[in-house]
Amino acid sequence: MRERILILDFGGQYNMLIARRVRELNVYCDLVPCTTPLHEIKKYAPAGIIFTGGPNSVNAADAPTVDRGIFDLEIPVLGICYGCQLIAALLGGSVAHAKVREYGKTPITYEKGDLFQNLPSESTVWMSHTDYINAVPNGFTVTAHSPACPAAAIENSGRRIYGVQFHPEVLHTVSGTEILKNFLYGVCGVKGDWRMADFCKEQVPSIRQKTGGGRVLCAMSGGVDSAVAATLVHRAVGDALTCIFVDHGLLRKGEADEVVRVFKTERGMNLIKIDARERFLLKLRGITDPEQKRKIIGNEFIKVFEEEAAKIGSVDYLVQGTIYPDVIESGKGGSATIKSHHNVGGLPSAVDFREIIEPLRELFKDEVRSLGLELGLPESIVMRQPFPGPGLAIRIIGEVTEGKTAILREADKILRDEIAAAGLGREIWQYFAVLTPVRTVGVMGDERTYGYTVALRAVTSVDGMTADWARIPYDVLDRISNRIVNEVRGINRVVYDITAKPPATIEWE
Ligand code: XMP
Repeated sequence: MRERILILDFGGQYNMLIARRVRELNVYCDLVPCTTPLHEIKKYAPAGIIFTGGPNSVNAADAPTVDRGIFDLEIPVLGICYGCQLIAALLGGSVAHAKVREYGKTPITYEKGDLFQNLPSESTVWMSHTDYINAVPNGFTVTAHSPACPAAAIENSGRRIYGVQFHPEVLHTVSGTEILKNFLYGVCGVKGDWRMADFCKEQVPSIRQKTGGGRVLCAMSGGVDSAVAATLVHRAVGDALTCIFVDHGLLRKGEADEVVRVFKTERGMNLIKIDARERFLLKLRGITDPEQKRKIIGNEFIKVFEEEAAKIGSVDYLVQGTIYPDVIESGKGGSATIKSHHNVGGLPSAVDFREIIEPLRELFKDEVRSLGLELGLPESIVMRQPFPGPGLAIRIIGEVTEGKTAILREADKILRDEIAAAGLGREIWQYFAVLTPVRTVGVMGDERTYGYTVALRAVTSVDGMTADWARIPYDVLDRISNRIVNEVRGINRVVYDITAKPPATIEWE
């Protein structure tokens, strides 16, 4: 059985980051709600348990907590921030409210302790708390302190229970990775058996066994997740897999051809490409509202997919490119819908199948990428920047027409080529062109022009939730602008969007 760490989620903002750090240390982990009952926790048979941070105070009446029996399982526990305070409060110590919040990079002194083996005693950590431990439980010692926090880390080495007030998962904590490593390898005694090559080796026979020769169907969108999921399943079941790729005409220049080349021509996968360009254009005629565009594209995609699936006849399994953050997100309460983010590849209800296979359910995005490379997919597909399901339709402000799509595709290609040529592709999270409905006067040669304005959008981000505009050097912007107005007919003005998210969003619609 694969060794694993169980992370109990108390609602802190860095929780997914904790899971990623653990995985980066080659240890598989699950992030589950803090309300998971003790008998469920036992079933995971974890090598260690981590309590995350959270926005509450342990002294509040409705503060989230855990069954105290968790400390009797003889499984090592590490509490981070709120998790650390919870350990103190549950085991007989106490937590008080400080007058000032300790926030940001903070100097710290480590004393002897299992978590701080081989670390310099003076260091810097990332703090974000108002409550602090003012009485340490019996049997615990203080192993670190900061100017405002007398018990910045506590431990009971005999019972293998640890707490840190700071956030080792945040990169600003200088030795954060070493601290997590000391907990995982030193205290929990893991071997570190989480490797993409092993995951692949494990999954292939398991998918093969599960499908048992049945017919498998996959909706390919051109995105990373569905591409990797399909390739993995193909390795397991070969020709029993049929992929349907709906070309809605809203992909970037060259993308539809690339999908066919990589999957059908080079890998010999059973890929059916449906040219639905006209159909989507027709449906989008006269539509200017972004949410309506998303709905129309989502629904139409499912309709096309269902029609094609019906032609194939009965299938047994449907492959979905669901990844771990989707699984975690869907388990949480809903936040306000800013955009409906309909992902092409959503669940078609009218396709008759026995079961859904989600081979990437356990993986984070960067892990999906390394799996893709492991499977031999080209970087152009695996490292692709996020691209919205509704495609160029939400980058053409106002009505989508064939002419506008063609103009945008050319401008976008120039932007992409120049960013790549300048070697900036890796550091920019997303970059694309937006076709605005604004037409302005220009002059070209001796002629007056009256053309569209294109906006360039390029942002840096970690997860797309917040973003900043990318500081692209002026000379690169200059080249892009020059090439677009000279090479793309219909555009005579280029502007650069310098708004962060929030208050703006990454996409314009
Ligand atoms: P926003 O514009 O909300 O975008 O800041 C955040 C991230 O989500 C992507 N995005 C979408 N992805 N369907 C998708 O699959 C959509 O309708 C959609 N809208 C935005 C956007 O590209 C960015 O990565």
